[in-house]
Amino acid sequence: MFNFELATLAAVIRTPGLNAASGATNQYENSSQDQKGMTGESKIEMLDRLAQAHAEQDALCTALEEIADSLPDSVDRQRCVRTARALGTLMQRWHALEEEVVFPELERGARDPVIHRMIEHLKLDHCSDQYLAEEVQLALFELGEGEANLSPDALGYVLRGFFEGLRRHIAMERDVLWPALVQSNDNHNATGGDWRERWAIE
Ligand SMILES: [Fe+2]
Repeated sequence: MFNFELATLAAVIRTPGLNAASGATNQYENSSQDQKGMTGESKIEMLDRLAQAHAEQDALCTALEEIADSLPDSVDRQRCVRTARALGTLMQRWHALEEEVVFPELERGARDPVIHRMIEHLKLDHCSDQYLAEEVQLALFELGEGEANLSPDALGYVLRGFFEGLRRHIAMERDVLWPALVQSNDNHNATGGDWRERWAIE
């Protein structure tokens, strides 16, 4: 677990859909045993890791929204510093998972050019998110140190622009990337069972 917003992340990870990802044997594990991907982990394990990354990104967005809402008079400065410290590490971890594990798995054998265009689009999102994350990180450090160079309105604009964009990105991955992943490289639904229930996807 990470050093930022432990309570928030813990609450997210306790959601029913993610509890199933803790390693307990069930119908999903049984159905995944012979479906190892490029990295040697099963598709179920990869999807579990992606689900957790999405949950963590949800938690980060919530934390940033609460900070934005607390401007200008109720800011928890220590929380700003904790969030700023964690932001860069978390972004790198999420993007590495997707770009080094998830996207190659989906591209493996994908014949539909739409899949490849979608992945290019998501990678471009990652690039812009990385750039914006550095801007947010700097703003949070300054805010935490009581030396904000931006006005409260400008700070709120920076924070909201970042987390609203990240939420759209997550929604895109859940709505489009996820179903494509579940059905990729198989002639049937690789997860068996109700994958929407397992990962708490609406
Ligand atoms: Fe992503």
